[in-house]
Amino acid sequence: MQVCVYLLLVLHAADGCSLAENQKTDYITAYTGDSVLLPCSCTDPHTKPESFTWQKYNTRRQTWDVITSESEQYSNRVQLGTAHSPGKLSLLISHLTEEDKGAYICYLTNQQYKYIRLTIKGCSLAENQKTDYITAYTGDSVLLPCSCIDPHAKPESFTWQKYNTRRQTWDVITSESEQYRNRVQMGTAHSPGNLSLLISHLTEEDKGAYSCNLTKKKYKYIRLTIKG
Ligand SMILES: *[C@@H]1O[C@H](CO)[C@@H](O)[C@H](O)[C@H]1NC(C)=O
Ligand SMILES: *[C@@H]1O[C@H](CO)[C@@H](O)[C@H](O)[C@H]1NC(C)=O
Repeated sequence: MQVCVYLLLVLHAADGCSLAENQKTDYITAYTGDSVLLPCSCTDPHTKPESFTWQKYNTRRQTWDVITSESEQYSNRVQLGTAHSPGKLSLLISHLTEEDKGAYICYLTNQQYKYIRLTIKGCSLAENQKTDYITAYTGDSVLLPCSCIDPHAKPESFTWQKYNTRRQTWDVITSESEQYRNRVQMGTAHSPGNLSLLISHLTEEDKGAYSCNLTKKKYKYIRLTIKG
């Protein structure tokens, strides 16, 4: 009798979900700042596993850590499956960072699982740590060039800063900065790797040192000279 019940349970579990690409590995490459879908699904989209988890290999601790939207690293960046298709177990990760690279597993049982190897491409800054010298005229516009070598790459974050010679500080430039209100445009929507700064209606005060700043080691300086 007990054997019978056990067999029924096994059959039922097998009925639930037969994993597509079972025990296979997918290799996926994505860019920092983008989203990526790690695919995992039952061959029959109407079936659904009794339970499943996504785990990521922690190379430091050599453990598989279960991913939840409460995980520190993934807080508010992951979305599991889709409500309208219970068989889709895919994991959507948004706002990718370099730390997201590595080995993932979509784990149902000891017999049913799928690996993903995620490679993350970041922004290699063109002319990194170099200085450009640019001259422009009052009233005109000027483009301060700054870009990732790969135009699809997108830095996790970046700022434009201007050196304040009076206070000897680097001030972050925003379109709300008093000096630059409605005169600056940063980056372009169609090319995320283009971080260039366009300043219009130039005034004498705009001369000086600018920095396109991604990280401590990724930056580019511009020396802007203004002629009347
Ligand atoms: C970046 O965008 C600006 C303005 O849209 C354009 O003039 C410039 O050529 C672009 N730079 C690169 C490297 O694509
Ligand atoms: C550039 O940005 C990084 C990270 O945001 C920061 O640590 C660094 O101090 C900045 N560099 C300058 C010159 O402001």
